[in-house]
Amino acid sequence: MSLTIIGGGNMGLAIATRVLDKGIVSQEQLIVIDPSDQKREQIVFELGCKSYGSLTDKTVGESDTVVLAVKPQTFTSLKDTLCPVLQSTQLVISVMAGVSLDTLRTGLNNHPHLVRAMPNMPAKIGEGMTVLHASGEVHRDKKELALDIFRAVGEVLYVENEDLVDAATALSGSGPGFVFSLLEGFLGGASRVGFSDDQAKLLVRQTFKGAVRLWNESGENAAELRRQVTSPGGTTEAGLNVLKESSVGSALENAITAAYKRAKELQQSSK
Ligand SMILES: NC(=O)c1ccc[n+]([C@@H]2O[C@H](COP(=O)([O-])OP(=O)(O)OC[C@H]3O[C@@H](n4cnc5c(N)ncnc54)[C@H](OP(=O)(O)O)[C@@H]3O)[C@@H](O)[C@H]2O)c1
Repeated sequence: MSLTIIGGGNMGLAIATRVLDKGIVSQEQLIVIDPSDQKREQIVFELGCKSYGSLTDKTVGESDTVVLAVKPQTFTSLKDTLCPVLQSTQLVISVMAGVSLDTLRTGLNNHPHLVRAMPNMPAKIGEGMTVLHASGEVHRDKKELALDIFRAVGEVLYVENEDLVDAATALSGSGPGFVFSLLEGFLGGASRVGFSDDQAKLLVRQTFKGAVRLWNESGENAAELRRQVTSPGGTTEAGLNVLKESSVGSALENAITAAYKRAKELQQSSK
């Protein structure tokens, strides 16, 4: 298969790097389009694939699959240059947050083969989470192709309901930001009880990693594991009481619902 990625920014390059590493496409089969000369030079140097500054029959029209990895607000101007070079058989995958299949379809002259994908930032290191949804016209082999591209950057989940792509924007898309915020709190606490930055980093990293792996591998639910590590009158209980007083659990639930609401608002404004 051959692939054109439009937008050589954070997400476009994360996908480009990983699909090459995983052998999904060869350097000759990959094109990255970006307006910046400097970025294009860097892409050619670091990835060894082709990189161009404009959308033409050659740079877009000859690939099997086209990934739209520009900012959502860029789509308004991009669609006018994309439509004339897009072939009706091409699969178009958008990673643009908050741009619905309806908006894509309308903007791209009723293009039939559309996939919406919501990856997240750890895609950069192959530990991403991508939720995908395809328009009804996308055949199984093209759907599999889209899944393969995002398997190269981590785990994938295909959903039948497009709303869940917006829900994923709030959960796995924004989630790394929430986790980084928790990490900041842990690191601040580590410093308060006397650890150096390096020591704190080791302890916090292994505590997160170990707890998540235990949850994943034990098959127990999170509440049960929490009960198992909390002795009455002990240290964990003392800390958990503070989290409870500050309603940390419901604050996290509220954060996810606020992000979901914002994703829906952005989707409305991108119409
Ligand atoms: N980053 C994430 O973690 C993440 C997660 C999920 C989804 N996404 C989605 O991925 C998309 C890209 O995000 P990003 O973080 O990668 O943004 P980014 O780093 O700003 O990348 C966008 C790139 O597209 C380039 N560009 C602008 N106009 C273009 C055009 N007409 N043709 C080709 N390239 C053009 C930009 O160049 P200039 O900088 O010169 O304008 C920039 O290099 C967004 O829609 C976002 O919602 C991102």
